[in-house]
Amino acid sequence: YKELKQFPEKFLWGASTSAYQVEGAVAEDGKSPSIIDMYEHPEDVADFSVASDHYHRYREDIAMFAEMGLKAYRFSIAWTRILPGGTGDVNAKGLEFYGNLIGECRKYGIEPIVTMYHFDLPYCLEEKGGWLNRDTIDAFVNYAKVLFEHFGREVKYWLTINEQNTMILHPGAIGLPKSGELPSKKVMYQQNHHMMLAQAKVMKLFHQMVPEGMIGPALNLTAMYPATCRPEDAIAAHNWEVLRCWNFADVPVYGWYHPLAWEYMKDRDLTPDVADGDREILENAKPDFIAMNYYSTATIAASRGDASDVAARAGDQQIMLGEQGVYRPAENEYVGKTQYGWVVDPVGFRYTLRKTYERYRLPILITENGIGAPDTLEEDGSVHDAYRIDFIREHLHQMKLAITDGVDMLGYCPWAAIDVVSTHQGYRKRYGFIYVDRDEFELKELKRYRKDSFYWYQNVIRENGKSL
Ligand code: BG6
Repeated sequence: YKELKQFPEKFLWGASTSAYQVEGAVAEDGKSPSIIDMYEHPEDVADFSVASDHYHRYREDIAMFAEMGLKAYRFSIAWTRILPGGTGDVNAKGLEFYGNLIGECRKYGIEPIVTMYHFDLPYCLEEKGGWLNRDTIDAFVNYAKVLFEHFGREVKYWLTINEQNTMILHPGAIGLPKSGELPSKKVMYQQNHHMMLAQAKVMKLFHQMVPEGMIGPALNLTAMYPATCRPEDAIAAHNWEVLRCWNFADVPVYGWYHPLAWEYMKDRDLTPDVADGDREILENAKPDFIAMNYYSTATIAASRGDASDVAARAGDQQIMLGEQGVYRPAENEYVGKTQYGWVVDPVGFRYTLRKTYERYRLPILITENGIGAPDTLEEDGSVHDAYRIDFIREHLHQMKLAITDGVDMLGYCPWAAIDVVSTHQGYRKRYGFIYVDRDEFELKELKRYRKDSFYWYQNVIRENGKSL
């Protein structure tokens, strides 16, 4: 290009968190346990009981977000605070907390972007079968109705479900039930179907109740490279891209499963039971945008047809375990890796954005992107996280190229606005622009410190990404 396009004027420069990873106060003000609270928790990492204590310090935190210049804050609402029984009585304290949080954002002109469900299904619903039980669909719709009634005027951007594809394909990646047993694939695809129905009903309801707002799914999307130019590798990479990504976005956008994924499910007896009227429900709803969590790409080789597919792994990411007869992960010598084995691929970000936009022609909102690393708090209160600045700068540059390519971008909310508990590595692995001074087990004073990336991002926002 002779010249790169600039970021749109109203571009949503933001940052993200999720309720259970940032709030703490797990049993306060009427909140009931979610499945996250009931998972088996590794002994050597922080649990979620205090997290970053955002529940008590949100005013201070949002003031800092405003100082950083954030135009948007993407957070999730804990279903268990609003409806401790999963459905039924509404907890006034829960409404009050999120009302205050939203009000605080508005006070500084920060656009709240709300995820309705970020991994934390009420445990009382799980006990009744969770997403395998069709009643959970109605429970989600009822929860959505309460949210739209109370916050529909104040919140314009809504995300239905965070990373449904991760929950369905890698249930163990989020947490292990105390029984240690993970549901079968058949069960997961049935749960998936119910989540799809719940999501479709909620999108439809939203458009009736909040006609001026926008709603979409938040998926973890990752373009796949074939390990070589061998045609069989290309087919394998395509297979896994379809199963892992497009099958989850096709349903909300096009109203039915991806045709190749449906055949895959049929062939393995994994198709869900589809009740009368389900198709209509799925066809009658459509998102206004696609929200994307992007961390890395994957590289895929043809299956060898035996158990070695499953044993093959590239990096430490759980997501990269192979599937017998379908695909096998391969190493990519052209990309870097974080110390946790996550592929770092800014160009892959542009590639994934292009593919997603080409497929759905809907604006894209980045709801997560970032690098997990152990940060060091210096004696003078500074945190020199040049690796985070480099990571985000390179991804933003590639996003600018994608915009120049013609991709319609709504905004960028990297992970995370402030340090949060990581899903597996507690506070050892941090993502925030703001350092929270606590250790795995020692809470200290939970004081907040601005990292170097805080000032750097502040400048990016101030100049609307001009020099990226
Ligand atoms: C995303 C999740 O998949 O990855 C977040 O939506 C999560 O909840 C993030 O924290 C980073 O993963 P991790 O395991 O490093 O915390």
